[in-house]
This record gives sequence, C-alpha cells and structure tokens, in this order.
Amino acid sequence: MLARVLILGALPFAVASEWQKGSSFAGSTSTAAFPPAPTNPADAAYFPDASQVGYAGPTPTGDEPEVIATAPVAAQKTDTYPLTQPQVLFGTKEEVSSSFNPMRYWANLSPWFSVDSAANGLPGASPQVPNGCEITQVHMVQRHGARYPASGDPPSTFATALNEAASSTGFSVSGPLEFLNDWTYKLGAELLTPFGRQQLFDLGVSFRIKYGGLLKNFKSYPVFRTTSEARMVDSAVSFAAGFFGLQDYQSSYELSIEIEESNFNSTLAPWNNCANANGPLFNLGYTASDQWNAIYLKDAVKRLQQYIKGVELTTDVVYAMQNLCAFETVALGYSDFCGLFTEEEWKGFEYSIDLIFWYSDGPGNPVTAAQGIGYVQELVARLTNTPITKFDTNTNSTLDGNNVTFPLNQPIYFDFTHDTVIAAYATAMNFTSFAAGGPLPATHIPAGHTYLTQHIAPFAANMIGQVLECPESSKSSKKVSYMRWLLNDGVVPLTGISHCAEHPNKDGLCPLDSFIAGMQDLIAAENWSFDCNGNYTVGVPNNIVDGKYHPQPTQSGKNGKD
Ligand SMILES: *[C@@H]1O[C@H](CO)[C@@H](O)[C@H](O)[C@H]1NC(C)=O
Ligand SMILES: *[C@@H]1O[C@H](CO)[C@@H](O)[C@H](O)[C@H]1NC(C)=O
Ligand SMILES: *[C@@H]1O[C@H](CO)[C@@H](O)[C@H](O)[C@H]1NC(C)=O
Ligand SMILES: *[C@@H]1O[C@H](CO)[C@@H](O)[C@H](O)[C@H]1NC(C)=O
Ligand SMILES: *[C@@H]1O[C@H](CO)[C@@H](O)[C@H](O)[C@H]1NC(C)=O
Ligand SMILES: *[C@@H]1O[C@H](CO)[C@@H](O)[C@H](O)[C@H]1NC(C)=O
Repeated sequence: MLARVLILGALPFAVASEWQKGSSFAGSTSTAAFPPAPTNPADAAYFPDASQVGYAGPTPTGDEPEVIATAPVAAQKTDTYPLTQPQVLFGTKEEVSSSFNPMRYWANLSPWFSVDSAANGLPGASPQVPNGCEITQVHMVQRHGARYPASGDPPSTFATALNEAASSTGFSVSGPLEFLNDWTYKLGAELLTPFGRQQLFDLGVSFRIKYGGLLKNFKSYPVFRTTSEARMVDSAVSFAAGFFGLQDYQSSYELSIEIEESNFNSTLAPWNNCANANGPLFNLGYTASDQWNAIYLKDAVKRLQQYIKGVELTTDVVYAMQNLCAFETVALGYSDFCGLFTEEEWKGFEYSIDLIFWYSDGPGNPVTAAQGIGYVQELVARLTNTPITKFDTNTNSTLDGNNVTFPLNQPIYFDFTHDTVIAAYATAMNFTSFAAGGPLPATHIPAGHTYLTQHIAPFAANMIGQVLECPESSKSSKKVSYMRWLLNDGVVPLTGISHCAEHPNKDGLCPLDSFIAGMQDLIAAENWSFDCNGNYTVGVPNNIVDGKYHPQPTQSGKNGKD
C-alpha cells in the first residue's frame, strides 16, 4: 500500500524506479449481470408471502409524525454513509490535514447536503414551520438520486484513452497512478446507483416524518408525477417505498409517468418541445467550462503526467479523471481517482460545472426561463384551484387538462425531475439570490460567487414549497396564508418576485396572494414561443441574468463583473 499522504513540492514518489507496466485489459469496460439464472416459477410455492403465512403479530399504526412543525430545530443532512469520504492527498501540509470534503465540490454530482439559509442571504431562517404558523400544503420538486454517467458525460473519455494505449503500444505507471495497472471501467449508464436508490428511500422516510400529518387531509390517493426514464421511475418508486413503507406503497398512490422524449410536452422534461434548448444555445455553458478547465487543470495535467508513460494526459482526460472520482464514489463507494487532486482543483471542478449550469441551464441562458414557466403555470393552477386551459408552453393538455392526472385538491404535490429542471424552475420563479453575484467569468472564480450547483441541483436535490397559515400580526389572531420555498433545506428569499418584494421577511414568507400575483406576472412576461423557437444567437460569457432573450443591447458578450 502507498503512503496515503503526498505533499506537493516534496513529491515523495521516486518517479523512475517504481514504473509498472499496465496490463492490456486496463481501461476496458467490465460489467456484471445479476441474477445468475432465472428462478424456476414452480419454486414460488415454497415461498408463500406474508399474508399467506399469517401470524403478523400486533399491527396498530401510530399517529402521523409532523416534525417540521413540532421540533424547534431542523435536522440536517450531512452524512453520505456508506460512501467512503475522499481524501485530499496532494497539496500543502495544511490542506492535506484539513477536514476539507471534496464531495461537497462535485456540483450536480455531489450527494445532497442541507444548505444553511445564511448561504441564500437569510441567516437564522429555518425549514421548521415558524412559531404560530400551521402548515396546510406542500409542493415538492425532487431530483432523482445518484446515477451512473449520462450520455456525453466525461468519464468514458479516460477509459478509452487508457484502453487504447493498453491494447496498442502499452503504458506504464508509477506512484499514485499505480492502481491503473488493473483498473477497469465498471460504470453503467443513466440508471440510479444503489446509493441513489438509498437517497430517495431516505428522503421518502424523512418526508413522512416531516410532513406525515398532511396525509390526513387527502380525499383520494396522492398522484406522484415523474418521467418515463428508468432512473426517474426508480426514484419515484424508491421515494414512495420510504414514504409509505414497503408493504403498502404500491396501493397508496398513483404514479403519472410523463413521456420524456424529443417533441413530447412535459414540464418535468421541458427541453423536449423547445427547439432552442437542444440547439447551439444549449452549448453555451460547455464552451465556458472548456475555457475554465484548461486554466484550473493546467498544474494537474503536468503533475499527473509524471506518473504515466504511454498516455498523453490532456485537459479533457484529466477532467474525466476528476469526474470518475465522483461517479465511482457514488456508484462503487470508493474511488482511487479522488486522491489525485488538490483542494484548489476541487473548487475548480465545482466552478466548471457552475459555468455549465449558469450558461446552459440557469440565469445566463436565454432558453432557461421558458423551460421553467410550464411548472409555474401548474403551480398557479394548484395554488388557485383553477384548471389550466391554455396550453402554450411545455404543459401537456392531455395530462395537465385532466383532473385525474392533474388534481388540484391535494395537500401534498409530489413531482420528480432532473437537475437542470430544478435550475430552470428557480430561474423562471426569479429566485435571484443564487444569481446575486452576477454573470460568471470563464477565467477565474469571482469573489462572492453565489451560483453554487452543489446548493441548487446536487444528486437528490429537493425543492419544497410550503403553504402556511400564520397570524396576521403579533397582536391579531386573524390568520393569513403565506408561501415560502426551501431548496435543499435552505430557505430562499423571495425578493425577486413582484408583490413579495414589498413584504421582506426574515423567514422567507410571502403572503400567498402576493406570491400568486408575482407568478402571474412572470407568466405574462415570458415569451415562450420566441425564446424556444426564435432565430437568435447569444454568445458566452454574456450579461443575461434572468434566463430570457433580450433583443439588443444586453447580448454584449463581454465578461461579467466580479
Ligand atoms: C401528452 O401526454 C400523453 C400521455 O402521456 C401522450 O400520449 C401525448 O403524446 C403527449 N402529447 C404531447 C404533445 O407531448
Ligand atoms: C404542446 O406544446 C405546444 C407548444 O406550446 C402546444 O402548441 C401544443 O398544443 C401542446 N400539446 C399538447 C398535447 O398539450
Ligand atoms: C373532474 O372533472 C370531471 C369532469 O369535468 C368533473 O365531473 C369532476 O367533478 C371533477 N372532479 C373534481 C374532483 O374536481
Ligand atoms: C427578478 O428579480 C430582480 C431583483 O432580484 C428584479 O430586478 C427583476 O425585475 C425581477 N424580474 C421580474 C420579471 O420580476
Ligand atoms: C416575443 O418576442 C419577439 C422578439 O423579440 C417579438 O417579436 C414578439 O412580439 C414577442 N411576443 C410577445 C407576445 O411578446
Ligand atoms: C436565422 O437567422 C440567420 C441570420 O439572420 C439567417 O442567416 C438564417 O437563415 C436564419 N435561420 C432560419 C432557420 O430562419
């Protein structure tokens, strides 16, 4: 085993003497299939289910928990058991011995952690129901859990480079890269990993503990909505299993599965009927991050090249290695790639993905608000108990126009979606606290950087709208309805929403009527048809901060401010 600590500058690896030749399978793809053989149907008779066996013992159900209202302080999500927390092995002595957790800097590939409301500009605000208030309705938007790489994600770039070298001229490695001798690519594609399933199951359990009391107000089964992708269905079902319990979950709710495919309308996969979201405008973030990657990975490319002969390490290859750390950890529980990078390089990695999100999926892309607006229309329909009648965005009239698949009387709404969609909703709803630092430069991480993807759309990110009844004032017993939003437990200030801005509130509350009026203003201001289908170009970096196209002069193409 290698010494686990490498101090930069000291370079404890005697580079030349330890070279080892990589085996020819290194970098190849390895997979496993389970189960080993189909079960014989006749065997089922030997395994009667619990209802056939009987003898269940006493089964009284207790009352519903509602810890969001009963506890004075909120529980925090901080652990990632059973994943192994990566270590930083390169860097100064202080960095190597610090408690820095690279997992927090994986942006949309980080497992979700509770965000402190102070990071959103609301210090002291808590996800707990404020004193004197009562919770009456919840709107949940839930990202799927940790997954394997999606098509186009970087990890396979590295495996390909290594395997090509292994099966032609050969390669040799030393020091921290020795593990590559017999490393294979073990990742699948697109599906939830076991840890991803755990995240959603745990969230189902925690949602029941927080909001279970609201189940008493349902008059019919809750309707969950997700999309047709395998990981999306698995996420909804895993959440339901945690929320309802495995004995009951299949008979406790309905699952509406929206088709996620080109040209289909769905607010949960809103790019599919929005041409510009799939064309060159979608690449803006990738252009910006490519530029940044060449800057922040320059040292790492040089440093790591010392330990491998026969494979040319480029920025793309080393970026793929950083991606592999994140993907292997959430799929396999541990990754040898994680130790290869410094603290600084992990912060650079987060920023690389922040650039992708800002310019491809967030405030800096002109097609973002258009993709979020269909959900805003659905939200207004739910909050006002008024069916949608105009289907002029990414809503689907078959599903949204029907009170069975789109009911308006539910105490909890359960929607499952993707990272980029949560980013789009936050932009369409003008949650401007995340954009407060302004447009992102592709040349450096600006001071006061606020657009952190790890806070917005990590694996299993969750966005929660709470409708609360609170006393109108400290002296009055009259109750008024309010709405507020939490993103990954952090309370979001609603200062960008018209009518809410007039009621600044330390707990993030906005009077419900004002919130609805604000959403209606945002719907009226959105030019979906032009933003999605218009013929226009925008450069990168740019000065867009609201996710919409603005005819001249906003598209200046110059760097944003720090
Ligand atoms: C709307 O959803 C229904 C049900 O999934 C589907 O059959 C239909 O093709 C969708 N329409 C569009 C335009 O996406
Ligand atoms: C799908 O969206 C387009 C664009 O908004 C709209 O014209 C069409 O009617 C929608 N189709 C359905 C079935 O909702
Ligand atoms: C749903 O729509 C049907 C037909 O329009 C109507 O008869 C029914 O009352 C509605 N149900 C609810 C719960 O609104
Ligand atoms: C969004 O919020 C910003 C302030 O944060 C405000 O200047 C802007 O007018 C808002 N946009 C809309 C459409 O309300
Ligand atoms: C949408 O934007 C285009 C281009 O700026 C403009 O010509 C059109 O009038 C706008 N439509 C609406 C409804 O504002
Ligand atoms: C879009 O606009 C450009 C420049 O104005 C023009 O050359 C191009 O033909 C247009 N494309 C379409 C599909 O209309």
